Amino acid sequence: MTGNLLRDAEDRRLPRIAGPCGLVIFGVTGDLARKKLLPAVYDLANRGLLPAGFSLVGYGRRDWTKEEFEAEVLSSVRDRARTPWRDSVWDQLAAGIQFVKGDFVTDEAFDNLAAMTRRMDADRGTAGNWAYYLSVPPQYFSDVCNQLERSGLADSSNGWRRVVIEKPFGHDEESARKLNQTVNSVFPESSVFRIDHYLGKETVQNILVLRFANQIFEPLFNSRYIDHVQITMAEDIGLGGRAGYYDGIGAARDVMQNHLLQLLALVAMDEPVTFSPGELKAEKLKVLKATRAVEPFAQTTAHGQYTAGWQGSEFVPGLREEDGFDPDSGTETYAAATFGINSRRWAGVPFYLRTGKRLGRRVTEIALVFKSAPHQSFTAGQTEAQGDNVLVIRVQPDEGVLLRFGSKVPGSAMDVRDVNMDFSYSEAFTEQSPEAYERLILDALLDEGSLFPTNEEVEESWRILDPVLTHWAETGRPEEYRAGTWGPAGADRMLGREQRTWRRP
Ligand code: BG6
Repeated sequence: MTGNLLRDAEDRRLPRIAGPCGLVIFGVTGDLARKKLLPAVYDLANRGLLPAGFSLVGYGRRDWTKEEFEAEVLSSVRDRARTPWRDSVWDQLAAGIQFVKGDFVTDEAFDNLAAMTRRMDADRGTAGNWAYYLSVPPQYFSDVCNQLERSGLADSSNGWRRVVIEKPFGHDEESARKLNQTVNSVFPESSVFRIDHYLGKETVQNILVLRFANQIFEPLFNSRYIDHVQITMAEDIGLGGRAGYYDGIGAARDVMQNHLLQLLALVAMDEPVTFSPGELKAEKLKVLKATRAVEPFAQTTAHGQYTAGWQGSEFVPGLREEDGFDPDSGTETYAAATFGINSRRWAGVPFYLRTGKRLGRRVTEIALVFKSAPHQSFTAGQTEAQGDNVLVIRVQPDEGVLLRFGSKVPGSAMDVRDVNMDFSYSEAFTEQSPEAYERLILDALLDEGSLFPTNEEVEESWRILDPVLTHWAETGRPEEYRAGTWGPAGADRMLGREQRTWRRP
């Protein structure tokens, strides 16, 4: 399945294969390309979803020959591909691999790239159809777009030209707006695919199915039944090796502005008229427009930075001891904030979002915590062990949906205790989910835009987050928390003030 959410089962029996085209990856020597993009391209080829003459051009600053680049692609595919190895698939893919050496500003390098793509159009039948994947440091997004325009690479008069842009898309609302202006002056919005890889995840798309294909859940998604919502993206990994990207960016810009606010939008939005890209995006935009960070931020937000500690059986360094980080770095590795939605459906329901590195374990989930029953006939003693009803959408790992509710404890007394009703993807389905990047790359090649945030969504997300970032910048350093714990004490105080607690996922 691709991100075209309109396709029905009939349609899906015929998998959609990308037509003649090629993909240029800028920043192909980086981590993302090696770990995710190159293996995803192989997996797509292996699933028969790329055209026979598909061409892959790596663009980067290394002094690589075509053969050296090919060896790099091979090693990353061997290490990371999800699907089995097949010589014939590799041979076909390798026949279309090329490398162009260049930086992100020099005319000559882009002219070489333009010559290369023209040659490939003639030799490989790519028909002038090219997607440019910008996996480059964000300060180069504009330069690359401008060079693509100058060199004619963005000219779509003889084939389609699309740009795929990695995050972070700007560092605040103003910079995102400027960047959108530059990108949209070169590529029309319909040819811009901004990556938020969370939208490519199976469980994230299942939020729409859970809510809008069923009758039992959707009537409960409102302030009448829901007390509050917790969206958690916890990671156990640290930031060793990522200083260049992360120092000065921090957890809120890295994942809250994009992944977490997109999850909020999908959980809180109204039902779209259809699942066409335009209508889905209109509903997401509407709910983002109604969302604001709740004040006073000193009480409704928390930010932290990990110090050395035990992560399982391993003693790990603190952020400021990690390679490449400023020993005085004030970058937050944990961010939590409270959001409210000004709509009839959600008025008064806080959405608590949190994310952090070096936390107790890796888990991403959305928990809708229900209000207590308005009247309770059972005695306080009988319901002593009962907690809140909760619906948990587990994004990863152990993808699934869990419903927690009270049940009678077997025996002669009428005691109530919480139990779980648990749906697990891996138990219910034999099909394996494709990697998020596999799906998103294919969607960009197929011109299916449902799973890509628009310029307006990105700007709205910054508009929501900017006041929190300004507050943190003005009020000093993030609070410390030990690696392997669940974040700074301030995060617990933040919910404690409202007589609530974070779930321990
Ligand atoms: C990226 C962030 O967008 O998402 C990383 O930049 C984070 O900091 C990663 O580790 C997490 O992705 P996933 O798919 O492993 O949850």
